[in-house]
Amino acid sequence: MTTLIKNIGELATPVGAGKQSGAMQNDCVKRIKNAYILIDGSKIIEVGEGEAPAADEVIDAKGALITPGLVDPHTHLVFGGYREKELAMKLKGMDYLAIHNAGGGINSTVKATREASADELYAKASEHLDFMLANGVTSVEIKTGYGLDTENEVKMLQVIKKLKANHKVDIAITFMPLHSLPDDFDGSTSDYVKYAIDEMLPAVIDEGGAEFIDVFCEKDIFTADECKQVLEAGKSAGLIPKCHTNEIERIGGVEMATSIGSISMEHLIVANSEDIAVMKNFDTIACLLPATSFYLGSTYALAREMIDNNVAVAFGSDFNPGSCPNNNFVLAMNIGCLKYKMTPEESLCAATLNAAAAINKAQDLGIIEVGKQADILIWNANNLDYIFYRFGQNLVSQVIKSGEKI
Ligand code: NIG
Ligand code: FE
Repeated sequence: MTTLIKNIGELATPVGAGKQSGAMQNDCVKRIKNAYILIDGSKIIEVGEGEAPAADEVIDAKGALITPGLVDPHTHLVFGGYREKELAMKLKGMDYLAIHNAGGGINSTVKATREASADELYAKASEHLDFMLANGVTSVEIKTGYGLDTENEVKMLQVIKKLKANHKVDIAITFMPLHSLPDDFDGSTSDYVKYAIDEMLPAVIDEGGAEFIDVFCEKDIFTADECKQVLEAGKSAGLIPKCHTNEIERIGGVEMATSIGSISMEHLIVANSEDIAVMKNFDTIACLLPATSFYLGSTYALAREMIDNNVAVAFGSDFNPGSCPNNNFVLAMNIGCLKYKMTPEESLCAATLNAAAAINKAQDLGIIEVGKQADILIWNANNLDYIFYRFGQNLVSQVIKSGEKI
């Protein structure tokens, strides 16, 4: 069955093969007036301007803005409980690591996630995904990392696999064994690292479904050397490395993650010119999480300097119950555009094509082009600038996922 989207006021999409960096992060985004898109089944088969061809079904966009479906390449979307109790501590001036070290933070979510049944985790995550799809996210990455023992990491993985099988959103799965040192290890990170490599990793590989491996390389969490051991082991087992680093302090994560070939590095809030000088020599994508800086009240990553140094920038929501309890990805994009001073074009590329590249899916997602998956948004807006200008509004009016109207 063919579907035609006609009367498109502005078709804004990145074009190009793979991630876009430097001036191309802006220039790859085309804004085509008076366009149409023809879909057959789940794929785009024609994109043009002017006179539109006939089709079985016609969607009249009535002059609206059209973009690719959004790709959120960084979430911790499966978790037990919430952490609103930390808000008061935060407002009194306790920072993220102080809350973590006082027994709150990630380990309190680990406790709640271990206590929750797979069905409970599934139902809650499914609702969060419904909200994200309705608000324009057609593909999402989800990490484990709140189980932190074999039984519970596999439980999380099974929940994510079930979401992937049943939910309309496309899901990429990341195993995150080094998220925090669980209480069971009496403060011994080295014992836990060994356990992660010798026991958790083989069980996760056995279960199947994970494509990426991620770690939290941070002061008081895991050292660059510990993270390296686990990422190397994951890589040998066929997983693609990712790395949370430079969220709070610089402890060598950038050198480590780039040199072992990570597909992306996450956060980079405190990455400085010295780090960017390293990053520019590698293909690793800077996956920036603007809503996390906003919620933590921290500074913002040096996105402009990264772009000027040819580092490809992607945006992620980082949705999680602690450092970023927000799953409105458009709001994260709005914060990114405004606080990083990135153009609407650069910001759209960061949330579509570069985000797809950060989960190794740029060949199929994040771009409106013949042969790509028909993940398309119709906005309650006439042009790309408007969705960044009206920050905090949910302006997606119609989501088309793999050719199907949602
Ligand atoms: O990306 N920094 C590490 N992990 C998450 C936070 C998880 C949590 O606080 O529960 C992040 O911000
Ligand atoms: Fe994260």
